[in-house]
Amino acid sequence: MNAQTRITHHAASPATLQRNSVHGYSAFRLGGFEFYRDEYFAHIRWESRDSRPMSHSLDVAIFLRALMRDVAWGFFYGWVNFDEVFGTLNHYTSVDLYAGTYNGAMKSAGIDRLETFPTEQIRTVFEQMLDDWTNEGFDPFAAPQETGLAYGPKRGNNRSAITRARELATRCVGLKGDLPLRADHTGSPVNRAFADVPQDEPLIHAEPGFEDQVHAFNLFAFLSRSQVTWNPSFTSVVKHSYMCPTTEEHILPIIHGNDRVEWFFQMCDEIDWSCADKNTGKPLARIIMKAGDMAAMPAYCRHQGFSPKRSMLLVWENGSPSLVYEIQKGESPEVPVEF
Ligand SMILES: [Fe+2]
Repeated sequence: MNAQTRITHHAASPATLQRNSVHGYSAFRLGGFEFYRDEYFAHIRWESRDSRPMSHSLDVAIFLRALMRDVAWGFFYGWVNFDEVFGTLNHYTSVDLYAGTYNGAMKSAGIDRLETFPTEQIRTVFEQMLDDWTNEGFDPFAAPQETGLAYGPKRGNNRSAITRARELATRCVGLKGDLPLRADHTGSPVNRAFADVPQDEPLIHAEPGFEDQVHAFNLFAFLSRSQVTWNPSFTSVVKHSYMCPTTEEHILPIIHGNDRVEWFFQMCDEIDWSCADKNTGKPLARIIMKAGDMAAMPAYCRHQGFSPKRSMLLVWENGSPSLVYEIQKGESPEVPVEF
């Protein structure tokens, strides 16, 4: 990013515009970006670098599913592309909001825009927009077959669904004092796709005095009870090594651009991935992952997964806060291994 084209905000400006009298949804502003929704679409307007009025539209269900992840994951690692045009880039204390900046054709045409906001400012506006635009009966975290429609005029809200706490273990789920295992009585019944997954737990024979340190649990059973899709939780944490298993169905609602290497282990069924250059969107690879397959997403790619039926995916993240800067300086590689 050319420094001359970066607009950096240090203080919040009013974010909410008027409420549309036809559909009932509020409009929002973040710097030079304006956001509107109608019955079917989210619309984004901005002024290009050369002062031309630009606009872009997304199916509102796609927009809200992406917005839900961006909010819930605290802008995640690297790029959260809502589609090939619009998204966010996390700098961990600030966030870039862009349109066209990482789309090769729009960038070269000069019709892109990028602005940098303090994380709290963009988080506040995104949370307000998610709340205002999510209708009663539509859960952006749920598989499309397991929730209602996002479309139509404004109709109530679904605050309980969009404010779910992310499940983040401190050491490991099921350990004393840590995240509990999922169960019927905690509101986590076995998903329809995993009715055949055994629910027995391993027997643990710890030496006396080590009962709180020796631990095991049935990860397949844990995942079979996930109520959401495309939402990695931390099940075990060792320093900056995060095991983030998740259940996937339909399409990953974002195109994730990596600022570090990310590992995938396909634990059952199948996910097909489209991988592209993270800066331009130029296609790089199509990866077909079947049960037992492993892959690593290099730090220079973006990727989106397609899961024809609910499947289990183990995502392994290196959460080191210094890693992204080591990669930028060339001190750490962009790939997991060099042969
Ligand atoms: Fe990813």
